[in-house]
Amino acid sequence: VTALAPLGQQMAPYACQRRTPLLHSNQPLTEALETLAEEAGFSGSEGRSLAFTRAASVLKALPGRLSALEELGPLPGIGEHSRRVIQDVLEDGVSVEVERVKLSERYRTMKLFTKIFGVGVRTASRWYQEGLRTLLDLQERNTKLTRQQQAGLRHYDDLNTPVERGEAESVGRTVQEAVQRFLPGASVTLAGGFRRGKPRGHDVDLLLTHPEAGREAGLLSRLVSWLDSQGLILYQHSQENSFALCEGPEPPGSRDVLDRFERCFSIFRLEAQGGPGAARGWKAVRVDLVVAPVSQFPFALLGWTGSRHFERELRRFASHERKMVLNSHALYDTMRKRFLPAASEEEIFQHLGLEYVPPGQRNA
Ligand code: CTP
Ligand code: MN
Ligand code: MN
Ligand code: MN
Repeated sequence: VTALAPLGQQMAPYACQRRTPLLHSNQPLTEALETLAEEAGFSGSEGRSLAFTRAASVLKALPGRLSALEELGPLPGIGEHSRRVIQDVLEDGVSVEVERVKLSERYRTMKLFTKIFGVGVRTASRWYQEGLRTLLDLQERNTKLTRQQQAGLRHYDDLNTPVERGEAESVGRTVQEAVQRFLPGASVTLAGGFRRGKPRGHDVDLLLTHPEAGREAGLLSRLVSWLDSQGLILYQHSQENSFALCEGPEPPGSRDVLDRFERCFSIFRLEAQGGPGAARGWKAVRVDLVVAPVSQFPFALLGWTGSRHFERELRRFASHERKMVLNSHALYDTMRKRFLPAASEEEIFQHLGLEYVPPGQRNA
């Protein structure tokens, strides 16, 4: 019998050093690990959650289907607990631990609540502690809800029905047409999962910019009021730009904080394109609108294309391996004490000394 080279032999340690396609051969394994990652997140164990996410991400980048644990070799980034889960799924088809999690009342309730737009782990956890279990409970016990959560609850079914690529493109066209009324020459770019090639997603991420610096200022509020006046907005919450380069970059310790672009978290009323909303004539769709000045656009595009894990790994690589701080606005070299400008995503990878990873290979 020829000894096969371990599948994971050439695996680079950071997800941003690897190519991770959308489709891979180890779906049952990554699903199991991601369930445990999610459950750990629900319990506030961020470290444990990250460990499972990392392990899943490594499996997504394997060149083939894993049939035995030994094929992994001494891969970095897959801990003992994850190995045990992998082994169980390989041997028995399921992991008893994962199945137990999926059936647990807490996991199911946390999942139900966190699927409400505007409800995070903290809120869901508090409601669970208070004995709430269903969406009806929230209404019947007059649970205090933010305006965002009220909208989330009102459109719960629509917002938890995947957005199809055609729907995302339609939203993009609507925004593009509206933007041209106020700022000819401005561009609208579909980012997020759709840019990575996903056929469907949970929302539509749109990035707006204009080739002349400064022209984009004020665009978002005019755009949103106009869309609203046309009856296209069911909910929106806008936030002004709070980023100033003179403040310097984020300190490395806070690299997961949100960026500070002018942005709008919204729910669009999308005319039905067939599918579940067809009978009623429309469907509620989550849309994120973000405005970036052209000089920051490549950083914004890189930051808003994801995946979340790919982004986290890029930032970790930048800080640990290069002593640089990367966020969705800029790249800062802490040794040379200067910002490294970039006109494209490719240039950002170059500054970091990384091989370019195209969007379709960022599904880490
Ligand atoms: N993002 C961000 N700040 C936020 C929300 C998102 O920087 N407040 C970035 C994330 O890092 C992610 C990208 O925007 O890389 C897209 O986020 P999201 O829409 O949550 O995920 P998708 O990858 O698009 O997946 P989905 O199809 O479920 O929408
Ligand atoms: Mn463990
Ligand atoms: Mn998205
Ligand atoms: Mn989004």
